[in-house]
Amino acid sequence: MNVAIMGFGTIGSGVYKVLTTNEDVIAKRVGEKLEVKYVLDRREFPGEPWEKLVVNDYNTIANDPDVDIVVETMGGVEPAYTFVKAMLEHGKHVTTSNKALVADKGADLIKTARDNNVNFLFEASVGGGIPIIRPILECMTGDVIEEISGIVNGTTNYIMTKMTEDGSDFDVVLKEAQDLGFAEKDPTADIEGHDAQRKIAILTSLVCCQQVEYTDIPTEGISHITATDIKYSSILGRKIKLLATSTATGDTYVARVAPYLLPPEHPLYSVDDVFNAIFVRGNMLGDAMFYGSGAGSLPTASAVVGDIVEMAKHKDMNIHLEWRPEKKVLADPSVIESRFFVRTKSSRDEVKSVFRDAEFVEGVVDGEIGFVSNVMTEADYEAKAASLDVVKMIRVK
Ligand code: HSE
Repeated sequence: MNVAIMGFGTIGSGVYKVLTTNEDVIAKRVGEKLEVKYVLDRREFPGEPWEKLVVNDYNTIANDPDVDIVVETMGGVEPAYTFVKAMLEHGKHVTTSNKALVADKGADLIKTARDNNVNFLFEASVGGGIPIIRPILECMTGDVIEEISGIVNGTTNYIMTKMTEDGSDFDVVLKEAQDLGFAEKDPTADIEGHDAQRKIAILTSLVCCQQVEYTDIPTEGISHITATDIKYSSILGRKIKLLATSTATGDTYVARVAPYLLPPEHPLYSVDDVFNAIFVRGNMLGDAMFYGSGAGSLPTASAVVGDIVEMAKHKDMNIHLEWRPEKKVLADPSVIESRFFVRTKSSRDEVKSVFRDAEFVEGVVDGEIGFVSNVMTEADYEAKAASLDVVKMIRVK
């Protein structure tokens, strides 16, 4: 079978490396050899082993009946969407690592694949190399998924880990992370939570079997977290982590991306550095955790190649995947109960008069106190906090 790779950057070149390094074992598992026939890229790659495979027009791939499987590792919605749609319509299976494409066009591309009796798979779009989509869709398909909470962004987890270990401020650690290649030159999508927002939208769509719009998920990043917030959280015995969470409520889900204070007993507390982990609770299985490398060339390529093998084994059939295009309306997050960590310039008595029992921390910053509230809905919290002079609020898991 012949494979084409569209986009030969970090992940696309990783896919080539996995397919060539593990050629024999992959051939055994598929039952025949997989050959990379084309690489679609604007660059030429003179002297590289894949130099002669390079094409500049996606129609060369779409119109070649010998290409069975196409990998999309270009990123972004366009032109990836146009190219992927054309490949599916020409009867080619497609796998992608592109969360922007899947979050936006997943339902559409799954339908296009079904209409053309091929497959559109996207294991690498969430959690990089960590198997999470197939476990949710196949292994846990007999469960109602009650909660998915994940550290799904390596850049922000690295920054939060270093801030916690070194006591440094956000800007200092971000700069270090950029110098070490752990953060992009333009880190906005990571640090403002947009990357995590798309990933939890994909996972929630899969468990709802319906389109969840990422724009409906309230999202807060970590750029406002300071060394002082970390100091408070350490005194409270907790760590601050950027979480993407989705919890079943009634016949829908409530989702959010935000920094949370995690206690040591939480399964995600020990997930540090660039690692990702996704905690899933099924109504029959109970708790499960998926941990590993959420980004990087070979880990992400490993998941893409897993999809290639799956599609090669189902060359003549569509693997049914339920993701309907009708929009799923998510629940109002203000009804969700949690505890809240608050920094305030109001006095302890003023806090007690509205929040009653709370866990207080004093002496970190002159003229302010910190406290962790009891469990209450976010709407209750907002109403009570309105009478205080709040410096900062961070949710507590
Ligand atoms: N920028 C992402 C991260 C890459 O830091 O996790 C994987 O989607």
